[in-house]
Amino acid sequence: MLSAVRLLTRRLPSASAMAVQTRTMGTSQSFHINTPDNTQETYFDFTEENYKLVNKILSKYPANYKQSGIIPLLDLAQRQHGGWLPVAAMDKVASIVEAAPSRVYEVASFYTMFNRTKVGKYFIQLCGTTPCMICGSEDIKKTIEKHLGIKNGGTTKDGMFTLLEVECLGACANAPMVQLNDDYYECLTPKTVIELLEACKEGKPPPMGKWGSLPMNGQVSCEGPLGKTTLWEVLPPKVDAERFKDGKVDPASVKEHMSY
Ligand code: FES
Repeated sequence: MLSAVRLLTRRLPSASAMAVQTRTMGTSQSFHINTPDNTQETYFDFTEENYKLVNKILSKYPANYKQSGIIPLLDLAQRQHGGWLPVAAMDKVASIVEAAPSRVYEVASFYTMFNRTKVGKYFIQLCGTTPCMICGSEDIKKTIEKHLGIKNGGTTKDGMFTLLEVECLGACANAPMVQLNDDYYECLTPKTVIELLEACKEGKPPPMGKWGSLPMNGQVSCEGPLGKTTLWEVLPPKVDAERFKDGKVDPASVKEHMSY
């Protein structure tokens, strides 16, 4: 276990190289740095309540494939630990799934959903990929930086906000957008993003809309300015009861059934 961490630390860049990194959060950090609250000796264990969820997660996989649970267990550990994963939490997951710690480190350092350094109460992931960039994400970034007094990758002194520019978050139709913790705020302007930040300061970020995200320009989901113009009804799937009468499905008929 120690040797895995040593391997990571061998790749540590010099202090000056680290200082010029713009993305200091989970996305690009491929090494571990000991800090007072993040060493292998730091205590981490799941709560009793979360151990029930651990068992539920592991019950989805065959006993000899426990490692399939690495991602959901890391997610659970991160949520329990205030939005980031100390190395002790990764080690705990490794021991639960009976994997070498390095197998868990490589998962946590590959997926951008995992933060391996502390983040603010409100973790703002700003999409800077082409559709969002064309629609004004640079203005949104500058507005957030100016309003909060931080730069990309930074956290406000009071620990309330962390800003990180990331790649496409899959809401391009409503660009520009940010992910705030688990929630998507879309169709942003410099004015509405400030409103969003101020609402967070008061502890009341706007609730998500009917479809699980919130376009901040008042539109519904990703309907255009004319509102809903197509797909007025969701047609029920056509099911040919004959096909299932013996409890079997002919694989050759699937394509036809799915209307490919
Ligand atoms: S480009 Fe921003 S969400 Fe896809």
